[in-house]
Amino acid sequence: MARITALINRKGGVGKSTLTVNTAAITANVLGAAPEGEPNYVAAISADPQGSATWWSERVGEGLPFSFIQTKTRADLDFFPELKKSRKVKHAFIDTPGWMDLPEDERQKAGDPFGKSAAADAMRAVLATADDIIVPVEPEPLGFMPTKDTIEQVVRPLGLPYLVVINNWDPRDGVADLEQTQDFVQSQGWKLANTVIRHYKIHTRAALEGTVVTQYRKNRVAMEAREDFYQLAVEIGAGKKDRR
Ligand SMILES: Nc1ncnc2c1ncn2[C@@H]1O[C@H](COP(=O)(O)OP(=O)(O)O)[C@@H](O)[C@H]1O
Ligand SMILES: [Mg+2]
Repeated sequence: MARITALINRKGGVGKSTLTVNTAAITANVLGAAPEGEPNYVAAISADPQGSATWWSERVGEGLPFSFIQTKTRADLDFFPELKKSRKVKHAFIDTPGWMDLPEDERQKAGDPFGKSAAADAMRAVLATADDIIVPVEPEPLGFMPTKDTIEQVVRPLGLPYLVVINNWDPRDGVADLEQTQDFVQSQGWKLANTVIRHYKIHTRAALEGTVVTQYRKNRVAMEAREDFYQLAVEIGAGKKDRR
């Protein structure tokens, strides 16, 4: 069965898409290419039914050892249970749309955290098949409350393994915001990753250019930027081979 890791946070702009494609890229790099004619071992999937024009899938070309899949319709969501049963795909990372924009009263009426929109259906479909969850957060107090909603209303009730991952920390800003965020996460009793994904311009640029972390040029800064994703992959136990 494929392992399915969902990247979720109610808030947009926290790094769900960035962490999805780059962690998938590292995992695929470690697992290597699948035999000719078979599906790639790793998939990065965008479960935003609106589609996202800026998503990598439209730009990243051939030659990567993982698949990009963009779900477009509600019917595409039926694909997740199938994916989970796959013997060929080993690990799928699913990017989700967030649900900050869904009106509160509509969500309450529906009696669940997501409500009734297409994005809500996508969230439910993803979470129904996920094996584990990554919750990216920025070292930024504005993100604390949406993250609290995410974890208390969605992640903890599911009972799945999860890690909060601090993303986009710029060391030049000093450690105060980072430590405040770490303290907040720990004070809530949430699971915090030791890995911190630092802010590097190269990550922002890569998103625009449609490249992934394993394709960065080999200079010092690019290697540092990439290192964070290798560490995250180790921390979540991605890239394990069957060694028997
Ligand atoms: N570690 C990082 N370093 C630099 N830029 C980043 C980093 N993480 C995210 N970004 C940029 O921040 C923006 C939002 O990230 P994105 O992954 O699209 O968030 P989400 O999918 O949660 O909306 C994008 O422009 C992305 O390139
Ligand atoms: Mg996104």
